[in-house]
Amino acid sequence: MHSCTTKETIKPAIAKDDVIEQKVEALLSKMTLEEKIGQMTQLVIDVLRVPGTWNQEFQMSEAMMDSVFGKYKVGSILNAPGTLAQTPQKWQEIITQIQEKSIKEIGIPCLYGLDQNHGTTYTMGGILFPQPLNLGATFNRSLVLESGSITAYETKAGSVPWTFCPTVDLGRDARWPRMYENYGEDAYLNAEMGREAVLGFQGENPNNIGKEKIAVCIKHYMGYGAPVSGKDRTPAIISKQELREKHFAPFLETIRAGALSIMVNSASINGMPVHADYDLLTVWLKEDLNWDGVIVTDWADINNLYTREKIAANKKEAIKLAINAGIDMAMEPYNWDFCIYLKELVQEGEVKMSRIDDATRRILRMKYRLGLFETPVYNTEDFPLFGSETHALAALKTAEESMVLLKNEGNILPLAEGKKILVTGPNANSMRTLNGGWSYTWQGKGADIYAADYNTILEAFTAKFGSKNVVYEPGVTYNDEGQYWEENTPEIAKAVAAARGVDVIFACIGENSYCETPGNLTDLTLSKNQLELVKELSKTGKPIVLILNGGRPRIINSIEPLAKAVVNIMLPGNLGGDALANLISGEVNFSGKLPFSYPKAVNSLGSYDYKPSEQTGTMEGVYNYNAELSFQWGFGFGLSYTEFEYSNLAVNKSSFTANDELIFTVDVTNKGNRAGKESVLLFSSDLIASLTPDVRRLRAFEKVEVQPGETKTITLKLKGSDLAFVGYDGKWVLEQGDFRIQTGNQVVAINCTETKKWVTPNI
Ligand code: BGC
Repeated sequence: MHSCTTKETIKPAIAKDDVIEQKVEALLSKMTLEEKIGQMTQLVIDVLRVPGTWNQEFQMSEAMMDSVFGKYKVGSILNAPGTLAQTPQKWQEIITQIQEKSIKEIGIPCLYGLDQNHGTTYTMGGILFPQPLNLGATFNRSLVLESGSITAYETKAGSVPWTFCPTVDLGRDARWPRMYENYGEDAYLNAEMGREAVLGFQGENPNNIGKEKIAVCIKHYMGYGAPVSGKDRTPAIISKQELREKHFAPFLETIRAGALSIMVNSASINGMPVHADYDLLTVWLKEDLNWDGVIVTDWADINNLYTREKIAANKKEAIKLAINAGIDMAMEPYNWDFCIYLKELVQEGEVKMSRIDDATRRILRMKYRLGLFETPVYNTEDFPLFGSETHALAALKTAEESMVLLKNEGNILPLAEGKKILVTGPNANSMRTLNGGWSYTWQGKGADIYAADYNTILEAFTAKFGSKNVVYEPGVTYNDEGQYWEENTPEIAKAVAAARGVDVIFACIGENSYCETPGNLTDLTLSKNQLELVKELSKTGKPIVLILNGGRPRIINSIEPLAKAVVNIMLPGNLGGDALANLISGEVNFSGKLPFSYPKAVNSLGSYDYKPSEQTGTMEGVYNYNAELSFQWGFGFGLSYTEFEYSNLAVNKSSFTANDELIFTVDVTNKGNRAGKESVLLFSSDLIASLTPDVRRLRAFEKVEVQPGETKTITLKLKGSDLAFVGYDGKWVLEQGDFRIQTGNQVVAINCTETKKWVTPNI
């Protein structure tokens, strides 16, 4: 898979800034080995806490500061104290202390990183946007750009210059507890949204991340979203073709957009832990792309090479493997013995000095690009829009565009005025469930306190439809003190009794918040209590609307037929309750589409880009792409209150070569009597290929607003080479032959007239 091109001939992924490069070299030439290794070390903030003060406001320990910065010269700190969000003022105080000490002891500012994963996860009072899976469902690039930009601003209000996102894993296993942290299952969608996020967070110039911008860390490189067991941090088996063609695609696109750092997948691919994979880290990223950014480990993942992955006998050997594979910075995160062992390894000749210099250069370069030497700390008061109405409105609009209407029998929605409703289910009155994990705290616990000013679904419905029309009886509740899946003794009879006096039942069901490994599950089916609740409610004969609220698609095949309508709100964030009320009332129209395949059965998980043999007979017609599959709802599915008709799909050329631009146009007419937004998705099918082709691949999309009776012509552009795939030999190939292009119910045939191969993508 190694390219034969030499590094020198490849254009740098990020253009070099000569002034920065000179500063980096001047500084590097003065640094000792210990100082360089210190820069490569990242510790968690709690290491700096005054011992024994876990339940108190964070206070810096002078003694620990002396060890961390004075003795070990540590270059980077991460995380919120006790994984609890802090006010921007408190952040400014913490960062000021750290920067003053770091500059005094090392002469180099510290690089502080936080998981600001869906808005300001760890900045109290900031705006929490919908989770990335919701952003995927909007199919609206500008919303992703805007959310990144606002989050950067609000993060910088606390002087934090670096976020560990966007996450562009492909969420290809519905069981995986991190499904909601990326933009869905598709490579192209993750690439497009990832790029917008990078531009939103960092701006256009990666060499000069200004006052209101922050650096990104693209994660988790790569293949993290396809664990064989469905459990977090467990092995993936992925063919080299699929790895390069799909999993790599969003990393490539975000690097092209200037991403300054990348975090590595904690697990292994094909038996090789990614943290020790020289090919994937050094060859694919640094050499093939001539990318000069920073590769950071995930949490304790060098240690995991010996404790969990068993490819090293001890920590020292694990460090040697990881650093030689291309790791630049170790998220240790509690222990500085990394510094001691790495120094020994260099002295023993096991790690070359040139590798240490390369890693240090990358880290210093990032610090210069961030302007940390000139402005290590900002003043909170210079960020007057922090947590503002304007920012909240952006989060509300994003939430509205992210919710997906999956079923609407007899147009029961929008809800007619004056209807009496029962709001029920464990997710009806919870800020925690609207937000999911990475919200104020790591697991999202406590959101009901920290986001008390925002509306739950119940509160938003009560405000919208009037308290005389809204009855609340949850029937099932979560045990908020326990594991995310624990529920209290159900009180279903109470909910059923409450249903008798209403016209419509809104059953708000799903999951409590979780993230990472604590979110693992052994059964994707919705909880027994919640299924029971819906079944019992259905016996009242009252129409049921299911509101699905959770981080992954839980199996609901036994209750879906009992519902007149289904809305998947996933994890819409703090403005989710209001957004849902606006949609249910009909003030706003639905426009979200599923960014993943919703499975119908636990034994039948899959993605939309399957192989023809996995489901023969489904592609006869053009619009029955999920008709016979065991998907409850297919990728890209989502209804509106209006109806869109597609017509006149046309292309500028019916035959093409790799360098041609293909311009498709299609007319979209709003046939209903409400305005609406439609995401026009363009799919390709390679009819015959030398390697079994995928049945369909998303190649382009545009979201457009169309007024009642109006027709808009949408233009979607591709390069001929976009229709290539990675062949059995690991090389990209565009093959001669026929392709079918489809959007809505429209199809057009095009023909490729040349076969062309290439190795690495041209940056
Ligand atoms: C997660 C990463 C995260 C890191 C730092 C890890 O456990 O896998 O996504 O960025 O912690 O908080």
